[in-house]
Amino acid sequence: MKTVQTLTKMKQAGEKIACLTCYDFSFARLLADAGVDVLLVGDSVDMVAAGKTSTLGAAMEQMVYHTACVARGSGSALLVADMPFGSYEADNKDAFGNARRLIGDGGAHMVKVEGAAAADCVEFLSARGILVCGHLGLTPQHLHRLGGYKTQARGEAAAGQLLQDARRLQECGAAMLVVECVPPPAAAAVAETLTIPVIGIGAGAGCDGQILVLHDALGLYPGPSPAFAVNFMQRNNSIRGAVNDYVTSVKTGAFPPAG
Ligand code: KIV
Repeated sequence: MKTVQTLTKMKQAGEKIACLTCYDFSFARLLADAGVDVLLVGDSVDMVAAGKTSTLGAAMEQMVYHTACVARGSGSALLVADMPFGSYEADNKDAFGNARRLIGDGGAHMVKVEGAAAADCVEFLSARGILVCGHLGLTPQHLHRLGGYKTQARGEAAAGQLLQDARRLQECGAAMLVVECVPPPAAAAVAETLTIPVIGIGAGAGCDGQILVLHDALGLYPGPSPAFAVNFMQRNNSIRGAVNDYVTSVKTGAFPPAG
């Protein structure tokens, strides 16, 4: 069974952590069998499975349902579930109740919240025994405030702010951190500074692990995919082969390409 302690030891040993999003039982079994370390039931489910144009409409019921589906097939992978927009920002007690549903009813091991402003919530949940993953950089739940899906933490001051926010989340008890769509040197500085595992998406090779949206990694999503995503089906002739290729590429450092 992969635990947060397993992932922290992997970071310390320099072994890269392979993560993918996952939304159903069959894929959970396939990904876990291929050696994916972390399965994230992302609120991206509302885009890739439900066909919406953003993650903002994802509901708790939906997240609990998909988390429970994934939990039945997740094997030894660590299972993380997204707290959807509106489920944790306003009230820490509500956040606890919603995290409890994802863990108690859905079977998640850890929940994920977006943004530096969630630090208090991270502290509240962590103090009550809940494993929390932070998410900084491009936080899709703040799409409108950010003005679109754009690279974040550009420039020295913004990279410094990213590092400060990451430190604060760790101090508040975050057990893991996702950094999305930030310049590779900024993400590498976060990974070097923090003791918790830092998982990158469009954030370069200096992170402790990588994550992609499954439908981007398999070229399944009909909408636009981010420029950093690689479709592993283009060089494999089966889904199993593509997922094995992704895991090997992350573990050997071939993905993402340096530079
Ligand atoms: O919802 C999601 O799929 C995510 C990943 C992009 C990290 O948060």
